[in-house]
Amino acid sequence: MKIVILKSSPHKDGASNTLAGFFTKGAEEAGHSICQLDVARMNIAPCLGCDRGKNSGHCIVPDDIGKIEEALADADMVVYVTPVYFYEMSAQLKLVIDRLHCFYKKLSGKKSLLLATAWRTDDEVMSYLQALYAGLAKYFGLQDVGTIMAKGCGTPALIQESPYAHEAYMLGHSLA
Ligand SMILES: Cc1cc2nc3c(=O)[nH]c(=O)nc-3n(C[C@H](O)[C@H](O)[C@H](O)COP(=O)(O)O)c2cc1C
Repeated sequence: MKIVILKSSPHKDGASNTLAGFFTKGAEEAGHSICQLDVARMNIAPCLGCDRGKNSGHCIVPDDIGKIEEALADADMVVYVTPVYFYEMSAQLKLVIDRLHCFYKKLSGKKSLLLATAWRTDDEVMSYLQALYAGLAKYFGLQDVGTIMAKGCGTPALIQESPYAHEAYMLGHSLA
């Protein structure tokens, strides 16, 4: 399978990207091909809501969204990777989601996965992001493969010591 991983933390080697690293290791060992895009380091402007890409199915704003569309068009699976920011995905990832406004129908039928990290450990901390992801997967027509919501994992060290590291590795390794 061709898997596109959208990393979205300002911390290049932070908690969420560390979690994604375990998933990547498992998926690569299982023979999948991985394309990693660090959207936090790409040039992605906010959506203009112009709808001018509706006919072509491609956003008309000439920044790095074209590279993301190109990678996603060729992918079998998309993996969203984000730290929890005030119950939500990072703004860096939300920019990308919004900018897929004209493109998202091309995602239909592809697989999707969410990997998220947060400091807190209470029941509520992941609930809004979980619901948002479920809604997005449904609206985009994605086949939801699952989520790893790493609570109490605000640093790379906490991820490494947590059961989520093995869970992410195994999830990558067991993908059909
Ligand atoms: C702006 C901001 C908002 C945050 N909001 C939350 C939150 O609502 N709940 C929580 O548990 N952690 C929150 N955190 C902590 C991060 O989720 C946590 O440190 C994180 O998973 C770091 O991942 P990263 O190293 O990949 O950026 C927040 C951090 C920042 C900078």
